[in-house]
This record gives sequence, C-alpha cells and structure tokens, in this order.
Amino acid sequence: MVGIDPSPQMIETARAADGADLVEWRRLSAENWDATRDGPIDLVVTNAVLQWVPSHLDLLPRWLEALGPGGVIALQVPGNMQAPAHALMREVASTHPRAAELVPALNRARASADPTDYVRVLVGAGFEADAWETTYMHLLSGEHDEHPVLSWVRSTGLRPVRQILTEEEFVEFTSEYERRLRQAYPEEPFGVALPFRRVFAIGRRTGSVSESVSAVVGIDHVQVACAAGDEDVQRGFYAGVLGMTEIPKPPILAARGGAWFASGQAVIHVGVEADFSPARKAHPCLLVPDIDEIARRVRAAGHPVTWDDAIPGIRRFHTHDGVGNRIELQER
Ligand SMILES: C[S@@+](CC[C@H](N)C(=O)[O-])C[C@H]1O[C@@H](n2cnc3c(N)ncnc32)[C@H](O)[C@@H]1O
Repeated sequence: MVGIDPSPQMIETARAADGADLVEWRRLSAENWDATRDGPIDLVVTNAVLQWVPSHLDLLPRWLEALGPGGVIALQVPGNMQAPAHALMREVASTHPRAAELVPALNRARASADPTDYVRVLVGAGFEADAWETTYMHLLSGEHDEHPVLSWVRSTGLRPVRQILTEEEFVEFTSEYERRLRQAYPEEPFGVALPFRRVFAIGRRTGSVSESVSAVVGIDHVQVACAAGDEDVQRGFYAGVLGMTEIPKPPILAARGGAWFASGQAVIHVGVEADFSPARKAHPCLLVPDIDEIARRVRAAGHPVTWDDAIPGIRRFHTHDGVGNRIELQER
C-alpha cells in the first residue's frame, strides 16, 4: 500500500496513524506520481486532494491505465467553487490593486470538475462509472469574533491569497471579504449555515479478472428463509438442535427480522421472505465432526433423518430445518 502527499506534516500525521506500518508513505505531488511503476493497482482512493491539481482530468487516464483487472478508483473533491464563499473571494480580488496576480491564482486553484466530467474520463477509458454530488449542511459557530466561514476558508481557499499578499495587505483583504461574508452567511439562532457541495466518482475496470487469480476466495454465508415470526422456530433448530451460536445482525439489517447463526467456519443467515415456501431441493450442506451424534439429536427433536450413501466414503443425511427447508449434514 502506498500513500502520497506533498506536505511533510501530512505525511508525518499519516505515518503516526499507521501503527502497523502497513503503508509506504511518499512525499510526492499527485502530478509526480508514476502510477504505472506501482501497477497493476487494485484500488486508488483520493479524498479532497484533486482540487489542488488543476490538470487532474488529464492525469486520471494515466492512473486508470495502471489499474489492474477489476481495479477501482474512488475520488471525492469539493465542488463549491460557485458558492458565495469563493465567489466573494474572487469579487474582492478582482477590485484589488494586485488583481492581476490574485485573479489568475484563484482561478487556477481548486480546480474541481463536475460529476459528468469524471464520468466522461472514466467511460472514455472503458471503465464502469458512477458519479454524484451531495451538498452537506455545516452549522458553524464562531469561537472568536471572526466570521466562522472566514475561519473555515483560511487554511483552504484563502491560501493562494495569503501566498501573494503581504501581511498588511492580507489583513485588509480579509476584512473586506469578511464584511461580504457576513451578508452572504448571516448569523442565525443556530449559528451560521454553510452549504458545502462535494463531488464523488467511482470507476471500475471491467473485463475478466486475470486467470491466475481466482475471483472467489470463499463463502461468507448461506441464506435460508422463513416466514415472518418464525425466527424462534429457526432458533430452535440452528441453535437448539445443531448447537450453532446466534450472532447479532447489524442494527440496520436487524429491523428486517431474521437471525444469523455461526459455528466453526459455517454461517447461516435466516432471512424473512414474504410468501415463504420451504426450499425442497436447494440446500446448504453443513460439516459436522460426529454425524451419528447429530443424527440422534435431529431425530430426537422430531426432524427426519434420511441417510444417503450415493457418494462412496461420505457419511451424510438430509433433514429439514424448523420451517421445512432441506438441510444436508455431512461428516468431515
Ligand atoms: C483537505 S486535505 C485532505 C487530506 C487527506 N487526503 C484526507 O482525506 O484527510 C488536502 C491535501 O491535499 C494535499 N495536496 C495539495 N496539493 C497536492 C498535490 N498537488 N498532490 C497531492 N496532494 C496535494 C495537501 O497537502 C493536503 O494534505
């Protein structure tokens, strides 16, 4: 894994957070990253960076070339250049005695594009593309007398102005800019509302995964179904009879009902299905160390045990779970 940023402080902060030393940190601008030398790459993630790289729409195709089969790029850039916070900064710059330096610097900086631009680049390179925008509502409260939007842009959008002007000129500039910000972003009982548009894009290289790399590495779980309200019957079978452990469902999924069970490497998800009817043919096959013991328990709980010796050397039987789904048990 490689992480790049031209700022030494940013690299140090990132390195400190990388306790397990998983990443090779490089002090480098995006423009100077030779992606092809690091390829084939599985994933490129860039967050709130490309707005500082005016040429990035031309840079992206080189990065895309370096992505391997199934490779993904995910990017996020602020898309707020037309917002009053930036428009007013350009306005003040355009009437400033040093407008000839300030205006081009502000136009060059923070060159994000629109979702369509990113889709164009991604699709043009043969990628599956998805792009969208979201406007986040930040509620700011000032800690000092300074207007909170001015504090917000000091370390970002105002940087080019700070780099050009003298200290005295900068104070003058910000005081006029702040006057306009106060009108555009008034103080309200809840603070100052700052809508902030961000643009997102994801691209995935289509086509088959290299033959030498298996695309599937295992089974996470198998799902079986039941009718709404039959979860307890299923608990009786999977936990009670088979001795699996119920594991909590993620809260967002728990509202849908159902129950999850795990034991060893086996995970069964019981899901609730409208118009449920038991699966008579399709079934999971669970491995058990002592099939006779399980057969005894299954029978004692009132479930059928149908032995099958069609495969020589394999001891297995079929039964059904609490709601009639076919289940196979096989001795490992
Ligand atoms: C808003 S921060 C985002 C940092 C980090 N990506 C994150 O999500 O926390 C913007 C970063 O862009 C970096 N940056 C500025 N110009 C850059 C360039 N030309 N290439 C790469 N990174 C750049 C800055 O050093 C800064 O760390």
